Amino acid sequence: MTSIQPGTSDAFLICKFGGSSVANPDNWSRIADHVSDRMASGQRVVIIVSALKGITDLLEAQTRVETRQPADAVCNEVRQRHHALLEKLGLATDLLDSELARLGELLDQDADPDDPAWQARIVGMGELLSSQLATACLQARGIAAERLDSRDILTSQANPRRSRRAEYLSAECRTTPDPQVQRRLSDLQPVVVMPGFVAANAAGETVLLGRGGSDTSATLIAALLGAEQVHIFSDVPGLFTADPRHIPAARLLKLVSYREAQELAAMGARALHPRALIPAADNGIELHLKQTSRPDIEGTRITPDAREHGAQVKAIVQRKGITLVSLEDIGMWQQVGFLADAFAVFRDMGLSVDQVSTSESNVTLTLDPGANVTDARTLDELERRLSRLCRVEILPDCATVSLVGLGIRTILHRLGPALEVFEQRRIYQVSQAANDLNLTFVVESRHADRLVQQLHQQVIPGGVGGDSIFGPTWEQLFRRDAEVKPARPWWSEQREELLERLSGHDSAYVYSLACVRAACTRLKSMQSVDRVLYSMKANSHPDILRTVVASGLGIECVSTAEAEHALNSVDGLDPSAMLLTPNFIPRSEYRKALELGMRLTIDNLHILEQWGSDFAGRELFLRLDPGSGLGHHKLVRTAGSHSKFGIPLSELDRVQRLADAHDIRIVGLHAHTGSGILHADNWHRSLETLGEAARQLGEVEVINLGGGLGVPDRSDGQPLDITALDGGLARLRQQLSQPVEIWIEPGRYVVSEAGVLLARVTQTKGKGDVRYIGVATGMNSLIRPALYGAWHEIVNLTRLDEAGDHVYNVVGPICETGDILGLDRLLPESREGDVMLIANTGAYGAAMASRYNLRDPARELVIS
Ligand code: LLP
Repeated sequence: MTSIQPGTSDAFLICKFGGSSVANPDNWSRIADHVSDRMASGQRVVIIVSALKGITDLLEAQTRVETRQPADAVCNEVRQRHHALLEKLGLATDLLDSELARLGELLDQDADPDDPAWQARIVGMGELLSSQLATACLQARGIAAERLDSRDILTSQANPRRSRRAEYLSAECRTTPDPQVQRRLSDLQPVVVMPGFVAANAAGETVLLGRGGSDTSATLIAALLGAEQVHIFSDVPGLFTADPRHIPAARLLKLVSYREAQELAAMGARALHPRALIPAADNGIELHLKQTSRPDIEGTRITPDAREHGAQVKAIVQRKGITLVSLEDIGMWQQVGFLADAFAVFRDMGLSVDQVSTSESNVTLTLDPGANVTDARTLDELERRLSRLCRVEILPDCATVSLVGLGIRTILHRLGPALEVFEQRRIYQVSQAANDLNLTFVVESRHADRLVQQLHQQVIPGGVGGDSIFGPTWEQLFRRDAEVKPARPWWSEQREELLERLSGHDSAYVYSLACVRAACTRLKSMQSVDRVLYSMKANSHPDILRTVVASGLGIECVSTAEAEHALNSVDGLDPSAMLLTPNFIPRSEYRKALELGMRLTIDNLHILEQWGSDFAGRELFLRLDPGSGLGHHKLVRTAGSHSKFGIPLSELDRVQRLADAHDIRIVGLHAHTGSGILHADNWHRSLETLGEAARQLGEVEVINLGGGLGVPDRSDGQPLDITALDGGLARLRQQLSQPVEIWIEPGRYVVSEAGVLLARVTQTKGKGDVRYIGVATGMNSLIRPALYGAWHEIVNLTRLDEAGDHVYNVVGPICETGDILGLDRLLPESREGDVMLIANTGAYGAAMASRYNLRDPARELVIS
């Protein structure tokens, strides 16, 4: 038993456990541990429990005629569910007998099934049962716990304007600190267990606090007791920057304000019920959302302090099933009463309007599915009535996509580039909430998922940790370890050989051809992809070209110099297996490519307008701009209005006319949105966009989805899911209007991991607090860190087994402050002559090297 005795008045902590938490027997030892820890730190703990998962639904079904079952059957099921849990917890199964008998009596009563007073008593039984079970369970674990019925201390306020139903089933309570209740609880055991969801009205009858009401019970009781904190435990660890079921890269929000939480909860975040926030905000109570089964995860804190962190987009959320109503009439301008007449129609039909925007000749409004029945009949009737006033357009299948965060208005200018994702997608309405908390776009439903994903990628900071607001991503928290357990990289297995190869040299890139082959095999395993081309700009080393061609890949190049180099390097390479996808090259180079017999992709109408005759009678591929780019850095996003690549979709008709005029057949469509993308969705969307364009053009035989397949920077990063990519492409392919071949042209994916840069330590230095390790080559060999802020793993290969002792900056010999290969790296103390290894440098390393400072870049070596 614990040291706190009844009668002392320690600070109260309120902990609420949700339905899936209490229903899972494995959670109870964790719950007991949490409670014991809290008691040990001198707190009195009040535990609020929901009904076991599924029980409230079962009981609620009894209150509707269409879903009602025989009373016996329901009672038995409720009994069985509780008995099964009691058994697993090692508790006596007769513990709940009297409560279960009461349920039986209630269900058998000859009550009016529509009577909300009776319904409240039935539906509230789930919490009465679970709170009894919880008390026994904690007592059995040696915790001094007792049960208190919430109806004894929570009383609802009557509100004559509300319906009788609402008064019983969605009752309102207001609470302020009450010393009498505080004394009463202080006289009980140090742990008090209470049922959530239920309260009493002034007449002492049972009322319910509405769906999700246990969260509200927790904050109401916290306010009564003057508690400073409420811990809300559920099956998710808190609020995320997007719905993690759709966006695995969604990050846990560590800190949000009440208003932001309110906005997120109202928009469907699962971890919290929005009503619960009102008592918390009114009384300055901090809420801490946590996951019962993973107490190690920090969770989300909802506190008044969150305001101090300034304006920032915290999340991207969407709601589907929105109906948009557009009222159009030039005559409405300055016409007194037009809006009143229009809104009267909605009122008369019982429809509640969500968002409204108006201009001189148009009023656009949305109907929220949560508050309205918007079936076809209702909408037809709405249209009929509104048509008497003006022109009406009703779009039933819309979605809202919202950026949520405090002070959105003050950061609109920073959102500019992110809003490019709306290019090519029609926005029906934009609204910025007066509370300055959200910026909402109404779009077609089918675009919503994609928009959320793109906005999330562009607006929410990437990376992990080191941030007071954004925590780890969902996939970092919940990926199955086996999926990402990093295999030991090839270079750690071949350490001796690498050190030997460097002897007598200062620096070298070393490529593992086995690693290149393995990547080719993974790519070739995709059933939905007919052809894989290697984008040789990533690394054009002759041995690599020979290896990829031998592995069955074709070659994609961006200059005729690349093409000639490939033809010279690889015996028997057939130019017709090569594709040239250049950008702004001179006319002479296209002519050269035609002479070589390569396939050509064009990405500008100038080529057809001015040089069309060069291509007469030929087949061409078109590079299209699908509207928005993705990639690891803004400089590698190659679509959208700020990128120089591609033909906009709106110019397809003109392309077709020009092609016809010159007897040119457009047989392939191409899109490359950017580089270093780790989500399969990117290529799925490209296939949808290009598929639609192919339908317009008619003769298309090939859809080339470009490259961009990313490789995680860090060994524990989540790799691109090739199986998911393949599966999605296969599914989408079936929906295309015509059979096409699917091609891809990755560069990085083939070679990045296969290459390492080795460089000897030349000097070390400490300056102020900063320690430097200088190596023999720098941005002249590897410009990616300087150019894109790219992160490459760095190890001391000579001392691979030694633990890091200090944090160092690893720098090269070039006369630029930006000549840094890695900042703040934990490394063992390194000595002159040691060999440092910079990993993942097979792609865009040597390929982008220069002789800046007249320093030759690292030489290239191969191990097969
Ligand atoms: N296709 C086209 C048309 C491209 O422009 C590119 C790359 C690729 C394919 C191959 O992309 P990959 O699969 O390698 O991501 N220097 C940057 C990357 C620039 C990529 C340029 N275009 C970096 O080091 O990250």
